[in-house]
Amino acid sequence: MPRFALVVPHLALALTLTACVTTDGEPGARGGAGAGDPYFPKAGNGGYDVTHYALDLAYTPDDRHLTGRALLTARAAEDLSAFNLDLKGMTVEAVEVDGKTADFERSGQELTVVAPGGLTKGADFRVAVRYAGEPQTITDPDGSKEGWLPTGDGALALGQPVGSMAWYPGNHHPSDKATYDIAVTVPQGLTAVSNGELAAERTAEGRTTFTWRTAEPMASYLSTVAIGRYEVSRTATRDGLPVYTAVDPAETRASRAVLARVPEVLEWSQNRFGPYPFSSTGAVVDRAGALGYALETQNRPVFPGAPTTRLLVHELAHQWYGNSVSPKTWRDMWLNEGFATYAEWLWEEDQGGLTAQQTFDALYADTYYPDPADNKAVWSFPPGNPPGAADISGRPVYDRAAMVLHKLRGALGDKAFDTLLRDWPGAHRHATADTEDFMRYAQSLAAPDRNLAPIWEDWLYGEGKPGKP
Ligand code: TRP
Ligand code: ZN
Repeated sequence: MPRFALVVPHLALALTLTACVTTDGEPGARGGAGAGDPYFPKAGNGGYDVTHYALDLAYTPDDRHLTGRALLTARAAEDLSAFNLDLKGMTVEAVEVDGKTADFERSGQELTVVAPGGLTKGADFRVAVRYAGEPQTITDPDGSKEGWLPTGDGALALGQPVGSMAWYPGNHHPSDKATYDIAVTVPQGLTAVSNGELAAERTAEGRTTFTWRTAEPMASYLSTVAIGRYEVSRTATRDGLPVYTAVDPAETRASRAVLARVPEVLEWSQNRFGPYPFSSTGAVVDRAGALGYALETQNRPVFPGAPTTRLLVHELAHQWYGNSVSPKTWRDMWLNEGFATYAEWLWEEDQGGLTAQQTFDALYADTYYPDPADNKAVWSFPPGNPPGAADISGRPVYDRAAMVLHKLRGALGDKAFDTLLRDWPGAHRHATADTEDFMRYAQSLAAPDRNLAPIWEDWLYGEGKPGKP
């Protein structure tokens, strides 16, 4: 590592993302060790954008050993002498930038790479990282497990919000989406499933390589790898969209009926939310001891056991809300979960069950859940501003955020709200957006004399239960 001579402004704040000149005189900044997220300040990095990840992984469940080669294609957003990647655990063996061996340094989850000769703003560059080790299971501030989760017959890699840094180096923040090629080599007899479409499957010398291709941009928290013995089914919807499901044999019987409804749920979702944004769909149903939740991994959500139809509706709705239009920061989680939860309400309404209004009313009356503590939790904090990193998946981010959307529906009318459901993900397809973008957009759909500010103040940002309207 060269020493960095800081040429810095007087602001203490600037120290974190500061300009500098290397001792050999190359100009350029150090990128920065975080993307500025209010809840996960070290997640992601500054100074560049990744456009593509090519991951070449090999895993042996017996000794939990992962070897990886990550080839990132990126563009410098400023002149850079060095930049950071996020990687938690694992041993880094070598790093190259544009084919030249690069010095690197590790500190916690930050892998700092010195760019030989520096990088010029706007330049495309490639970073190759060779690494190996036993990937870590990460415990989140809320106690949930993510990262690399060993299972009885393989492993499951999940990344919300920061678990993907356990299995590959990258810019692990949703603000930087990229396309992916993920190749996974496993002992013959096991299957490796990932995002996108299966482009190749080759067996040689007792090992099988599964190559998965994601051509649509993906936030890194939505990347997944599932390794194990699965019953695989490959079908298609009536529109010809490929459906790939992989189910742990212990869960096949319980999963069969609901997974058969994937095409029907997708058709309903497309009618409600607009064209499906990706090139394939499906599901992974596995059994990972530590896993207590489902995740909307891109193309094919992961379930910790046979899902209910309602949970399937929720995770498939995320393909529009969260996966196609992704949050700019983890403060915008309510947009993901509010829409996915509202999708459940709409599904129930369209199936002839409770109307969305009845669901709203039951939540408001604290009678929705059998356990009073759950009803109380709905009001524990404002969904637009969770108090801490441990709260980004808290109940208000789901239920009360859906109530925000229902209040909007009331203010806009059903017709404009239907437009919002389709055009919000349509306008930000394969991109990112934050709460301010959403508030501005929603206001643009309102009648000229209809100010939505009271909804934001009371329902999105207000403490406690909003008063009766
Ligand atoms: N975001 C996931 C979903 O809605 C659920 C989830 C992921 C979750 N990580 C979590 C819930 C941690 C609670 C805690 O499908
Ligand atoms: Zn969700």
